[in-house]
Amino acid sequence: MNFLQIFSGASNMVEGVDRSFVVIFGISLFFLIGITGVMVYFIIRYDKKRNPKATQIEGSNTLEIVWTVVPLVLVMVMFYYGYRGYAKMREVPDDAMNIKVIAYMWDWDFEYENGKVSKDLYLPIDKPIKLNLTSIDVVHSLYIPSFRVKEDAVPRKDNYLWFIPQMEGEYEVLCTEYCGLRHSFMGAKAIVMKQDNFNIWLADFTPVDSGTIKGLEILRANACIGCHSLDGSKLVGPSFQGLFGASRTVLVDGVEKSVIADEKYLIHSIKEPNAEVVKGYPANVMQSYTKLLTDEQITDVANYLKTLK
Ligand code: CUA
Repeated sequence: MNFLQIFSGASNMVEGVDRSFVVIFGISLFFLIGITGVMVYFIIRYDKKRNPKATQIEGSNTLEIVWTVVPLVLVMVMFYYGYRGYAKMREVPDDAMNIKVIAYMWDWDFEYENGKVSKDLYLPIDKPIKLNLTSIDVVHSLYIPSFRVKEDAVPRKDNYLWFIPQMEGEYEVLCTEYCGLRHSFMGAKAIVMKQDNFNIWLADFTPVDSGTIKGLEILRANACIGCHSLDGSKLVGPSFQGLFGASRTVLVDGVEKSVIADEKYLIHSIKEPNAEVVKGYPANVMQSYTKLLTDEQITDVANYLKTLK
């Protein structure tokens, strides 16, 4: 991120957040310098040479009142700026565009009102956006530093944040709540574009049939994708990407064998994961899902896996 972006208005929340930051930072800096200065002065002025005999000082109402009232006023000033910025963040305009954000280990899904789902957050410029946050496993936290917005995504709890993107460009989206092994990889991009371009992007998708969506939801609900990635990266188990129809070397009782990952193989691997373990991966890590999923659910999963080219 460009350092200068700290004071640019990538969203309408930048002003309020940066103002309270500067106020608090300014007050802190003033006292850091002031207190250090007084301390150094006292060390020199009252050292043993210049002040051989210590004097006890006791009681001063004026001093007590001054050092109570001044900090009180200062923290109230900090509270005022902090609250002003925060209050704006909780009042969503009625015409805001809703985007559902689904957090899971370890990725984000952004679901638009027309059903389009995307891995990056595409946004039209100058339009109020409301992100409705949920998580399907553990606590995550959506953070877009350039927009100065950050809110937790908590399982079984609805949370939200809103903002108006004000500058075209690409911005980082981060997870800022430690959520396990691949927490630091849980990033995405926020891409702010002109309304016309956004409309074209939004309309351009093929609605997936409900069986496929169900398959993905089952994978998420059972935390399958914690060990099997959807994007080709190697986790505890082999990735699901490009699996269907591919040839795999497996070990059956220690003997290598080549198999084609057809529907039968996929279903067999869900029911008996340790019968044919892909070479290079540990055995006995995965349990059988025969009792956890119905045959119909397993078929939905297999159908979904077929779409991961
Ligand atoms: Cu999700 Cu950290």
